[in-house]
Amino acid sequence: MWLCHIPAYAFQEKMVPLPLPPDSGCATIFIWFSVLERGNFRTMHAFEFYQPTAIVFGPGTEAQAGPKAAQLGARRVLVVYGGQSAKASGLLSRVLSSLDGAGLAHETFGGIHPNPRLFQAREGVQKALDFGADLILAVGGGSVIDASKAIALGAANPEADLWDFWQRKRPVEQILPIGVVLTISASGSETSDTAVLTHDETLVKRGLGSDLLRPKFAILDPELTYTLPPYQVSCGVVDIMMHTLDRYFTSVTGNLLTDEIAEGLLRTVITCGARAHKNSHDEQAMSELMWAGSLSHNDLTGLGAPKDFAPHQLGHELSARFDFAHGATLSAVWGSWAAYCWKTNPARFAQYGVKVWGLDPAGKTQEELAQEAIAATVDYFRSLGMPTCFTELGCGVQTEAELEELARRCTFYGQRTIGAFRVLGYEDILEIYRLANH
Ligand code: NZQ
Ligand code: ZN
Repeated sequence: MWLCHIPAYAFQEKMVPLPLPPDSGCATIFIWFSVLERGNFRTMHAFEFYQPTAIVFGPGTEAQAGPKAAQLGARRVLVVYGGQSAKASGLLSRVLSSLDGAGLAHETFGGIHPNPRLFQAREGVQKALDFGADLILAVGGGSVIDASKAIALGAANPEADLWDFWQRKRPVEQILPIGVVLTISASGSETSDTAVLTHDETLVKRGLGSDLLRPKFAILDPELTYTLPPYQVSCGVVDIMMHTLDRYFTSVTGNLLTDEIAEGLLRTVITCGARAHKNSHDEQAMSELMWAGSLSHNDLTGLGAPKDFAPHQLGHELSARFDFAHGATLSAVWGSWAAYCWKTNPARFAQYGVKVWGLDPAGKTQEELAQEAIAATVDYFRSLGMPTCFTELGCGVQTEAELEELARRCTFYGQRTIGAFRVLGYEDILEIYRLANH
């Protein structure tokens, strides 16, 4: 391999053509080399990858809910669901039949609100305890799954104040097993280690992370997502993209395989997202999105590098304050975040433009490619009907005092910075909100 003969320090941050045999008939492939300012490759950081969730994928697989729960030794299942979609589609009764078929006792707990609140999780804990549940089965999207994770945690720790876990006052040490029947491709909570809850009084929206929060099984039947309205499909597409983008834009950029996985996932989601937005019955598009959603947030697409997740933190404050759909808050801030941060590493944005958006690098600087990549992303969000600023989001132009309060809350009132690609403090966060405030 010719690469072996070229010392790493010889490269600068640049595109390097990979020679192919003259008769291969292929266009030259470009490989992007990212190197440290000192001239060394940035390389993969140490990591541990733990993905214990059994995936059951395909049409009709909700019939597996009972057998999968029984395999885990469950006898009494609390089934958690949302507003009305799972009932209206008949899914809930099919899932209950599956539990009956496996000989499992069950109780239901419905009405989980999008951006789930602490009080509902507390009610669910009480219901789980009263019923003596030994497994929590979420039938829904991220909001239902996260509420189910909270219920599973609270029911396994009845003496604890549930919010203490989210405030990092108590470690997560025991939890009831969680199963999922997914109805919207978006949050990735069906495989993630996270549960996001909003406190009813303070409106603090906060994620809790622990491998114990990863579901034991996730049933992914793409046909269950056919009833989604286009807006929710698009919110999901944005969220799936953002779970990978918030890992891709990081301080370590020498992870070749991780990058390829991330870029492939993004290309797939971009193509299928456009089709799904037009037609939620597009079997291939809905299937690819469902699988991509589960892979995008199980850590695979960011292995070997710290996560950034600044756009997520910026978005969470908007959901907490105005109760907007999660995906919409992300598209509303991403362009502003990118405009503020891209100069930290233009080459990374340029790589994103070439590998994900297919930009032609010929004759262009990294700076030009970076800006084109940002524009392509924002245009794509718009094409999905997703907001790209505050007025499109629906809250209108905010006062400077409102922006300051959002920024203060985002720093947990001065207790943290956010981001890893570029570390952002209060002034940076405020500036990004200002950029989105039109
Ligand atoms: O409540 P129902 O009637 O079911 O309606 C829901 C809800 O209104 C509807 N819906 C879901 N499946 C449907 C359907 N409508 C028709 N047909 C179907 N098949 O969609 C609406 C949104 O549902 P929701 O569960 O809120 O969506 P999503 O999956 O986007 O979850 C959002 C929540 O997940 C959190 C977000 O912050 C937000 O609270 N996240 C959780 C993460 C995690 N645990 O790892 C990571 C994410 O970054 C995110 O923060
Ligand atoms: Zn998200």
